Amino acid sequence: MSDAYLITGSNALRGTVRVAGSKNAALYAVVASLLTSDEVILHNVPDIADIEELSDILRSLGTLVRRENKSLILQSKSITSTKPPSELVQKLRASFLVVGALLGRVGSAECAAPGGDVIGSRPLDIHLAGFRALGAQIEHDETNWIVSSESALSGASIFFDYPSVLATVNVLLAAVLTNGVTVIVNAAAEPEVEMVANMLNRMGANISGQGTAHIKISGVDKLHGCEFTIIPDRLEAGTLLLSAIATRGEVLVSNAVPEHLSSLTSKLLEMGAAVQTDVESDDGSTGIQVSGASKLQSVALQAVPYPGFATDLHPPMASALTQVTGVSFIHERVYDNRTLYVSELRKMGAQITLGSSSSVLIEGPSQLRGTRVKALDIRAGAAVVVAALAAEGVTTLEDIFHLDRGYENLEGTLSSIGGQIQRV
Ligand code: EPU
Repeated sequence: MSDAYLITGSNALRGTVRVAGSKNAALYAVVASLLTSDEVILHNVPDIADIEELSDILRSLGTLVRRENKSLILQSKSITSTKPPSELVQKLRASFLVVGALLGRVGSAECAAPGGDVIGSRPLDIHLAGFRALGAQIEHDETNWIVSSESALSGASIFFDYPSVLATVNVLLAAVLTNGVTVIVNAAAEPEVEMVANMLNRMGANISGQGTAHIKISGVDKLHGCEFTIIPDRLEAGTLLLSAIATRGEVLVSNAVPEHLSSLTSKLLEMGAAVQTDVESDDGSTGIQVSGASKLQSVALQAVPYPGFATDLHPPMASALTQVTGVSFIHERVYDNRTLYVSELRKMGAQITLGSSSSVLIEGPSQLRGTRVKALDIRAGAAVVVAALAAEGVTTLEDIFHLDRGYENLEGTLSSIGGQIQRV
């Protein structure tokens, strides 16, 4: 049987906790290292299962990867394979980024459809349309997408039907070493996308507009190695802030970037929570402090692309909203299956119902009770953790391998601020 958490609730979380490096940004940075034969040193890389799996995928392509504490050292002197093993690719969605990187570095890739959480249909059409626009040919056999280019790729103007995060990164990776200028219109503006563009610039790329919906990539001949620090994880930070709110505690999440979390903190203020940004902690870094001590009110929100409310914070936000007064409403507009957590919260006594088109109604406050529940995907698991910290009694949370994919030592992090959580 896989690991489970035993969580004893009703303890207000208090204290200071430092947020780890961003899971998703680190995944993109690891793949970006494929674009140079030089050494790339990444700092602040979270120690989580997804980074391990992706490192194995890079090893299968010829990359030397080693970890030294929080740093990852990668070198792809030569690419020895353009076909990552499908059983590895199917473990995580970010694996499909190797297609853009291999296309950019050696002009071809063969890759199975990636895995990842079952939070929606998650097609690849925007990625593939981007590669096609750069001049790549695309075929599909029983297992693999075969993406190749007979002659050199050339810059293109690309309009995305939707600002897909991974498709934006994939096209960036494919286009940096391409002749001419590529413009992506309706690109994803997420901080993790901006960060990988900044890292590529550090490696010698010429990218502008990152962090906005218009990204311009002027192709260069060669990239070199770099040393780069991964940004703090806004989704881990958000989960910790929401755990403080749900337990009526007071927590300072140090190193969290206020600008990356303004969609969350503005909702917390609307609920009546006390929020302070740029609070200095003992280690000299600044962060976000919240307090859920006063009476909190219900809110309505929509999960949309950045800078809107993050879809990944929708499930833990729903758990926090079970503890406030009134009827809250969440409209999920990114994924069509983000609401797996609802069944688990209901088992714990939450008054939560599914509305039409991925919307959720939450009536609060309700007294949650510990019971046996499952982490059904990474953020659904985070939702249950937040609920369990607020609940009366003991919650047994099974299948926490989902949480291990993206939260570094979550039990240690929560214990340090008074959460009673134990891995069994
Ligand atoms: N979409 C398409 N066609 C495509 C690509 C996406 O229709 O070719 C649709 C999807 O079906 C979905 C929407 O676009 O409805 C959003 O998907 P997006 O491509 O933006 O998401 P992603 O790039 O696959 C990344 C993160 C997710 C995060 C989303 C949104 C990684 C590995 N994944 O996924 O993170 O929820 O962006 O911000 O970076 C997580 O960390 O738990 C996680 C799932």
